[in-house]
Amino acid sequence: MTEDKTQFNQWYEEDSDTDQLLRDAVANSEEQHNELSLRPQFLREYIGQEALKEELAVYISAAKQREEALDHVLLFGPPGLGKTTLAMIIANEMNVNIKTTSGPAIEKPGDLVALLNELEPGDILFIDEIHRVPTNIEEIMYSAMEDYFVDIMVGQGPTARPVHFPLPPFTLIGATTRPGMLSKPLRDRFGIINSLQYYTPEELQQIVVRTADIFKAPIKPAGAYEISLRSRGTPRIANRLLKRVRDFAQVQGKEAIDKSIVTIGLDKLRVDNKGLDETDHKLLETMIEYYKGGPVGLNTIAANIGEEAETIEAMVEPYLLQIGFLQRTPRGRVVTESGYNHLGHAYQREL
Ligand SMILES: Nc1ncnc2c1ncn2[C@@H]1O[C@H](COP(=O)(O)OP(=O)(O)OP(=O)(O)O)[C@@H](O)[C@H]1O
Ligand SMILES: [Mg+2]
Repeated sequence: MTEDKTQFNQWYEEDSDTDQLLRDAVANSEEQHNELSLRPQFLREYIGQEALKEELAVYISAAKQREEALDHVLLFGPPGLGKTTLAMIIANEMNVNIKTTSGPAIEKPGDLVALLNELEPGDILFIDEIHRVPTNIEEIMYSAMEDYFVDIMVGQGPTARPVHFPLPPFTLIGATTRPGMLSKPLRDRFGIINSLQYYTPEELQQIVVRTADIFKAPIKPAGAYEISLRSRGTPRIANRLLKRVRDFAQVQGKEAIDKSIVTIGLDKLRVDNKGLDETDHKLLETMIEYYKGGPVGLNTIAANIGEEAETIEAMVEPYLLQIGFLQRTPRGRVVTESGYNHLGHAYQREL
C-alpha cells in the first residue's frame, strides 16, 4: 500500500498538481462561501427530507457498529436541495474525512487515482455532478467501488506498464441533478440510491428562520413563510431571497422582516407569488404566444428563450413540472391550464 502510494506520487507529481486539482474543485464564489457557514453539520440539524434522513441514520449507525465504510451513496435531485450538505453531514456522522471533487474536474485517470490515494480507511470521496465523469474514468471507478483497487497504466511509450493500486475501504458519494445520464453499471455500484424532494413551505420556513438566526436578522413567522412560498421548494433559493429581503428591510428601517417587506422586496426582484422568475415567465409566455401552449420540443424552447437546453431541463423545468404548470408529453412540453391561469391567459387548448 505505502509502496504503491510512493510509486504513484512520484509518477503523478511529474504529471499534475494534486493540490490545484482539489482547489479547483472547490469554487469560491460568495454564494459558496456563504453556504459553508449556513450548512447544517449533523442530521439532526438538517430540516426536511425525513424519509431519506431516517434511512441514512440506520445505514450510518449500522456501518459504525460494524466498523466498516458506509456503502456507496448516490444522491440525486434538482440543484440547491441539499445534496452537498448531506454528503458533508454523512462524513460528520461517520466521523471520517471527506474529499470533494466534481465530475468535470477529473480529466485523467491519474486525477481520480490521486484523490483515491489520499483516502484513509472509511473516508469519503464526494463527486459532485457525477454524471459528467468521463467514460474512461468511470470504468476505473468500477473496480475501485466494488473491490477497492484500480489498475492503471503508468508511464508512456515503451516504458508504460500496468500498475495495481490497492485502496482502503472507502465510501463514494455521488451527487447529480441528472440521474438519467448515469450509466447503468455505475448506478448499480451504489448500495444506497436516493432522491431529494422539493421542500414543503413549512420546512422552508424553518430553514429561513434558521438562516435568519445565523445572520442575526430578526424575522416574523409570516415573513419567513412568505419567503418560503416563493422559493421553489429550494433551500438555496430561500436563503438567497432572505439575503435580498434583509437588505430591503434594513434600508427601510424595519426592525424585523415581515410579510409586507418580503412582498415589496420580492416584487422588486420580480419573483412572483409562486416563486417564478423572469426565465420561467419567458418560457411559459413563449410557449403560449408562439406555440399555442405546445407541445414544443425542449430544444425549440431553448433556442427561443436563449438558454441551454440542459439548463432548462435541470434547473427551470423541474419546478414548473412539479407545480403542474408544465407537462411532459411524448411530443414535447405543454403548458397546463393552471400555467395559463397563473400568467393571466385564457386557456384555449382543445383537448
Ligand atoms: N435541509 C436543509 N436544512 C437547512 N439548510 C439547507 C438544507 N438543505 C440545503 N440547505 C442549504 O441550502 C443551500 C444549498 O444546499 P446544497 O449546496 O447542499 O445543495 P445541492 O443539492 O448540493 O445543490 P447543487 O445541485 O447545486 O450542488 C446550502 O446553503 C445549505 O445550507
Ligand atoms: Mg452541491
